[in-house]
Amino acid sequence: MIKVAPSILSADYVNLQPDIEKVDQAGAEVLHIDIMDGNFVPALSYGPGWVKAIRPITKMVLDVHMMVQNPERYVEDFAKAGADIIGVHVEATPHIHRALQMIQNAGATPEVVINPGTPVAMIEPVLDMVGQVLVMTVNPGFGGQKFLHSTVAKIAELDAIKKAKGYDFDIEVDGGVNDQTVVDCANAGATVAVAGSYVFNADDPAARIQALKDATK
Ligand code: DX5
Ligand code: ZN
Repeated sequence: MIKVAPSILSADYVNLQPDIEKVDQAGAEVLHIDIMDGNFVPALSYGPGWVKAIRPITKMVLDVHMMVQNPERYVEDFAKAGADIIGVHVEATPHIHRALQMIQNAGATPEVVINPGTPVAMIEPVLDMVGQVLVMTVNPGFGGQKFLHSTVAKIAELDAIKKAKGYDFDIEVDGGVNDQTVVDCANAGATVAVAGSYVFNADDPAARIQALKDATK
């Protein structure tokens, strides 16, 4: 059964706390927080202040997905704000190794992220440093996009490396995840599913979380 990470990008920003409590009570293990800098991706979202505000209202794992150019500039701020996992894109820095070291040193779990157009080989040298790998299943930047099936082979490739080398990182998928697409992801080795619009653009977010779990039993 896959762990579910609702993305607050699709939540109600004015009533964020009730939305967070809803998914928490529904059994979501992780809360996915999308940080967009208007540079690595066109959109702007929120910063460490949001993580700090959210921290006291939930015990869910706070999973910060930094869609930020040169993320080294901010990883310490997010760790201080209470992030449990901090994800940095390999495409966003020439210093991915250093960025992951900084996350580790700041006391958070390092996560490396790859875009749909980036091969697994790009992150192989740092796989021994991470607690989670995030495989983007859409091009980052917006919620509500269509799942890219071409990314499933990369999940399987990562899972094979993980088993061959005895690593224990989680494999998270993000973008276009619903009760259909999650099945292929889980079968390929994904252990955490981010879901934004599928969970929050629904009358009953709890039922959507359960549907993702039931589909991957
Ligand atoms: C997209 C973000 C996602 C987004 C997913 O760039 O990284 O986390 O919230 O939204 P859905 O699940 O609607 O594709
Ligand atoms: Zn995300």
